Amino acid sequence: MATETSAAPRTASHVAIIMDGNGRWATKRGWPRLVGHRKGAERVKEIVHLAPDMGIRWMTLYAFSTENWKRSTEEVLGLMSIFARYIQREADSMAAQGVRMRFIGDRSRLAPRLQRLMSGIEAKTAHLTRLNLTVAINYGGRDEILRAARALAIEVAEGRFDPAALTEAALSQRLDTQDIPDPDLVIRTSGETRTSNFLPWQAAYAEYEFTETLWPDFSPAELEGILRRFSNRERRFGGVKA
Ligand code: IPE
Ligand code: IPE
Ligand code: MG
Repeated sequence: MATETSAAPRTASHVAIIMDGNGRWATKRGWPRLVGHRKGAERVKEIVHLAPDMGIRWMTLYAFSTENWKRSTEEVLGLMSIFARYIQREADSMAAQGVRMRFIGDRSRLAPRLQRLMSGIEAKTAHLTRLNLTVAINYGGRDEILRAARALAIEVAEGRFDPAALTEAALSQRLDTQDIPDPDLVIRTSGETRTSNFLPWQAAYAEYEFTETLWPDFSPAELEGILRRFSNRERRFGGVKA
């Protein structure tokens, strides 16, 4: 597979997106919120299809947070069925497009059938490299760090880990994202300027872009514009201008 292209000075290799605004998109039209979620899933398909041609090798999408269980049963069940249908319907097309699909978040609370679909598509696409797509379902950054801390505490208690060896890398290796590089750029749609518990550890040095566009209206052209702005930003990582 092709490696990083050198056409742009700095491409955002890993783009993470907080896909927000589906509910408002539907409500504005007098439609049920789930219509917005369905439209949002269509958007995901389109963006995933075009991302590799924009130089994106890694894409992480926030689909359902640990806080989203607070929504109505109808909305939660509707979202879960959209996820299941997406995985079933898109499996072949993703494989054909060279998309490796992974999930982060606590799966234990998801329906066994959905968990099986998730593991199935992960296995089916594990050898693919054109685009690494990660979908965050029942994901919360604090929950992820808590689970990693708990795992470490158990290792220490069982004498399998020396606390003196605890480094950032050691903790990173116990996060759901252990095989995934940190995001370069985090985009949030819908005008909210908060991170809502998305990748707090991994995005410590990411650039952020906020757009008023509601997720179902987010177009490939807008993504291209954001990527262009990113390539002109100077990332210093705590250092000084070169
Ligand atoms: C984002 O859209 C999708 C999920 C959180 C599942 P919302 O459902 O949050 O849409 P708004 O923010 O209410 O418009
Ligand atoms: C963040 O959106 C979660 C996802 C996009 C999946 P929310 O709509 O849940 O976030 P808040 O409630 O506005 O912070
Ligand atoms: Mg929202």
